[in-house]
Amino acid sequence: MTKNKPDTFLTVQEAISQAEGAAALRGWVYRERESNKFKFIVLRDGTNIIQCVVKKEEVPEQVWNDALKLQVEASIIVKGTLHKDDRAPTGVDLVVSELTVVGPSDTFPITKDQSTEFLMDNRHLWMRSRYMNAILKVKAKVMQAWREYYDTHGFIEFTPPIFQPNQSEGGNTLFEVKYYKTKTFLTQSWQLYAEAGIFSYERLYCISPCFRAETSKTSRHLSEFWMAEMEAAWYQLPELLDSIEGCLKHIVTRVVEDCADELKVLGRDVAKLRPSVDKPFVRVTYTEALKILKEKSGMDVEWGKDLRTVEEEELVKHYDTPVIVTNYPKEIMAFYKPADPNDPKTALCVDVLAPEGYGEIVGGSQRDLDVEKMSEILRGMGEKPENYQWYFDLRKWGSVPHSGYGMGVERVVSWLCGLENIKDAIPFPRTQLRWTP
Ligand code: 4AD
Ligand code: MG
Repeated sequence: MTKNKPDTFLTVQEAISQAEGAAALRGWVYRERESNKFKFIVLRDGTNIIQCVVKKEEVPEQVWNDALKLQVEASIIVKGTLHKDDRAPTGVDLVVSELTVVGPSDTFPITKDQSTEFLMDNRHLWMRSRYMNAILKVKAKVMQAWREYYDTHGFIEFTPPIFQPNQSEGGNTLFEVKYYKTKTFLTQSWQLYAEAGIFSYERLYCISPCFRAETSKTSRHLSEFWMAEMEAAWYQLPELLDSIEGCLKHIVTRVVEDCADELKVLGRDVAKLRPSVDKPFVRVTYTEALKILKEKSGMDVEWGKDLRTVEEEELVKHYDTPVIVTNYPKEIMAFYKPADPNDPKTALCVDVLAPEGYGEIVGGSQRDLDVEKMSEILRGMGEKPENYQWYFDLRKWGSVPHSGYGMGVERVVSWLCGLENIKDAIPFPRTQLRWTP
């Protein structure tokens, strides 16, 4: 039998693993109910839930009375003895001998079956749900796995500026902010700065907030989201594709292996993620994608048009891994994506579409080295190429081929957790219609 010093607290998860002997636990009342002789308290902490049983006949009157008064979300310390019990929600219960109320609780506003909007308004409290707790842990795992992958592939973390004077992903989604007596913008992507960084240390990554004034109200767009990005000197498109696939595979593997409990709480069918661990990802060009859409789905997309959500969803229906799409039409791509010398109507670029209709999770490209061509495109967009002088400088002193990509962290979390809306993949979502609490 394992013995604890009474004031050495176990986490709930540790208590479940230990399953017997003395234990002191602390946490919050997740559920409570009582009969004449018993009070059942389901206690939660950051790690899991466990049933605690207070037996009227076996505890001092004070403990019984305190237990009776407990409301959901009160914070408590309990001491007692652990037992295996198949009827308990997590297979173990704690028979309580001592109970201390640390912070009593009012009637908790969140009960069953509340509307999405109500939960959104009370996000600061809804955060405590097992649902949000599980998503939070999967998200942390995604970012940890990203870092793990690049830390072990010769990359270092780089800290880009968040205030930026230029756009990289189109002027119409820029958030303008007052900056002392002038104005600047919030970052859409670290990319232009990463391209400067790689001339010092060749392989860089970051995980950073990004801001986009998206007007499309979809289940995939946030105004503030987190992007994991990498940029590497000497990489061309083929190496970039391998890096994307390698990293995504590592992330899915880590989540499937390390977050089984969380995926279970979320009701996620893990079998749907397995192929992304076990099989190589599908790779097609944009032009091939149009052919597949025509032949397998009877969908006509005019060459040169970007793939719309419906078309992306249709395309991925034919596969059970992410689909890597390269060589989109050059015309509709960001100014820094170069033409493919073997097929100049297309760019050396890539999007990755998640399975099951979760949409674009990655966007990246080789970077254009031709200042004249980039200036021309910027002029066409009504931009002043002079504003990009510092960026063009990078092409002047020892320019080298280089490539990079960005992965939408919340998009990946939505996919891995099987979420209906991306808003649940971030603790406090910001969209055009939601910026509180
Ligand atoms: O495809 P995007 O716009 O690419 C870039 O910003 C490049 N500069 C990245 C790079 O090469 N370093 O964005 C990258 C990814 C998208 O594929 C998507 O997953 C996510 O970021 N994303 C969003 N996620 C949530 N809400 C939004 N509004 C998003 N916009 C992009
Ligand atoms: Mg994109």
